[in-house]
Amino acid sequence: MRVALVGGTGPFGRALAARLHAAGHEVVLGSRSAERARDVAAELGVSGLANEDAVRGVELAVLAVNADAVLDTARELAAALDETPVLSVASELRFSSEGVYPGPDELSLAERVAGLVSGPVAAGLHSLAAANLAEAPPDQDALVCGDDDRAKALALELAGSVVAGRPVDAGPLASARALEGLTAVIVNVNRRYRAHAGFRVTGLP
Ligand SMILES: NC(=O)c1ccc[n+]([C@@H]2O[C@H](COP(=O)([O-])OP(=O)(O)OC[C@H]3O[C@@H](n4cnc5c(N)ncnc54)[C@H](OP(=O)(O)O)[C@@H]3O)[C@@H](O)[C@H]2O)c1
Repeated sequence: MRVALVGGTGPFGRALAARLHAAGHEVVLGSRSAERARDVAAELGVSGLANEDAVRGVELAVLAVNADAVLDTARELAAALDETPVLSVASELRFSSEGVYPGPDELSLAERVAGLVSGPVAAGLHSLAAANLAEAPPDQDALVCGDDDRAKALALELAGSVVAGRPVDAGPLASARALEGLTAVIVNVNRRYRAHAGFRVTGLP
């Protein structure tokens, strides 16, 4: 599939681009700077464009920007995205001396993105650490949720091509509240055990 990685210049976007490229997808890496997009994309063997150009004509646009920038970016790119399905991978986290906490908002970032763009929104891949993804398809499952069948199917296809485990349908977009919250859990686990932990869902047929 042709997929755009908005803000794909960060560690997560780079790692996802490498995995998607290796799996045979056509990756367009985006950045606020067309020059930065081109430079990073060239290192990875994919193409690079300014974010608003990267999302035009793709089957799926992944919002891989810094979590604090997701809502503004969705708002700014809404016209360029038009009806393009969007995958939200971001988790809002609060850091304190006691540990890492989920964001305070009742709605997930993904649900709030869905209120800003015209196309359907899926969410997933939250627990895939960039460090794991960069090396090889991680030995983890990738949970994906969404209310729109087409967007979720694309997100599941993408997820299935970057992990060694399974893409798992986690239900409606409201499940993103839990998936984003799980990121806080996993960051706490990683801190405690000095690890890059991941999830496997057991008991599936
Ligand atoms: N890191 C992980 O292990 C991991 C795992 C799962 C999910 N995620 C999610 O994946 C996303 C990317 O993670 P990351 O660690 O790669 O993030 P990051 O390095 O903090 O940011 C990624 C990119 O976002 C863009 N950006 C930064 N500030 C921005 C702003 N104010 N407006 C628009 N764009 C801005 C930058 O690209 P340009 O400067 O080139 O525009 C930057 O390279 C996050 O939402 C995160 O929650 C991360």
